[in-house]
Amino acid sequence: MKFRRQIFGFLDMLRFKKMIPLRREALANGANTPLPETYRTNELAKRLHPGYMQVELVGVRKLTETMKEFTFKRVDGDSFPFFRAGSYVALQTKIDESLVTRAYSIASSPKDALRNRLCLGIDKAGYFSTYMHDKAKVGDLFIMTEPSGEFHYETLRDSKNIVCVAGGCGITPFISMAKSLLEGTEDYNMTLFYGCRTKDKIAYKEELDEIAQKGVKVVYVLSDEKVEGYEYGFVSAALLEKYVDIKSSTFFLCGPVQLYNFIYSELAKYNLPNKAIHKDASSCPNLDIKDPKTFNLTVRMNDLVYNIPCYENETLLVAMERAGLNAPSKCRAGGCGFCHSKLIKGDYVIAANRDGRRGADKKFNYIHPCVTYPKSDMEIDVPVAY
Ligand code: FES
Repeated sequence: MKFRRQIFGFLDMLRFKKMIPLRREALANGANTPLPETYRTNELAKRLHPGYMQVELVGVRKLTETMKEFTFKRVDGDSFPFFRAGSYVALQTKIDESLVTRAYSIASSPKDALRNRLCLGIDKAGYFSTYMHDKAKVGDLFIMTEPSGEFHYETLRDSKNIVCVAGGCGITPFISMAKSLLEGTEDYNMTLFYGCRTKDKIAYKEELDEIAQKGVKVVYVLSDEKVEGYEYGFVSAALLEKYVDIKSSTFFLCGPVQLYNFIYSELAKYNLPNKAIHKDASSCPNLDIKDPKTFNLTVRMNDLVYNIPCYENETLLVAMERAGLNAPSKCRAGGCGFCHSKLIKGDYVIAANRDGRRGADKKFNYIHPCVTYPKSDMEIDVPVAY
């Protein structure tokens, strides 16, 4: 109803009195179709953030002697959510009595996800990855988290010239980033240095050669053998300078911790800002302690109480998984906060440089079990994963 102020105030009052009957009339004449049960915004949010998904292993491909690619599809027929190239997912399955989860970088492109296809390149190292190599077969079902992570290109933060340095199986996020660039999802100038011991340890060789044909600069660096057309040695500052302008680049590193330490020491003399070097997070490992003590871990979860053993050299999350408890986890590196749990009592130590808790978490006694090792018997309150 249009309202224009009248010259005399009492006329406004008369019009105001008519407002209720007019509104009733408008409501009576309105459509009587029921309100929608879902809204497009909510549906889109659910597609982008489905939480946990049940997935089926639909393909296994050998990449090297120790590395295989595993392809999954969602079993509910929906496609995987669109993600930023460089992201990871956490994969979960039951192995004997344990309910084990591991985080893996995605090797396929964001556009592949929309075709209900998601690939992980997995090296045969560690409990879960060895299970994947030796026992997992096409048709097996797994639980997978939605793609997550901060290891991706950010227009406002990063230089348009990105330098990616991969070591061994650390190549996977860069395959996704290169595909994403070639498919037009991302826009940057990418140079990829891929360090391996020998030529036969290069994973995704065919894809990388094809990617190189299409405009991504790919430099293979072999440390243990000299091969024509390949660089020899390590990804040193001198080698980087041969191909890129270090000062005007943003670096993305993915590989073993030795690779990170080496690249950081090589780049130290350039005084690059912190934001110019990103490294992918790795799972918090077991500590190297001889004859570790065993503590009692009391876990409160969904109104139930469990008493389980926890070794001094393992994280609380690993102890819970070994006991078959469905504790939440994603990054397993202290950064995402997904495993966030309340400490009731006990002493603990957090892995060096992995305390990703906020100030409020510390103040109100919350911990991240994925990076917390026991120092005494402990009691924690943990949300159930799903
Ligand atoms: S799983 Fe990410 S912080 Fe623990």
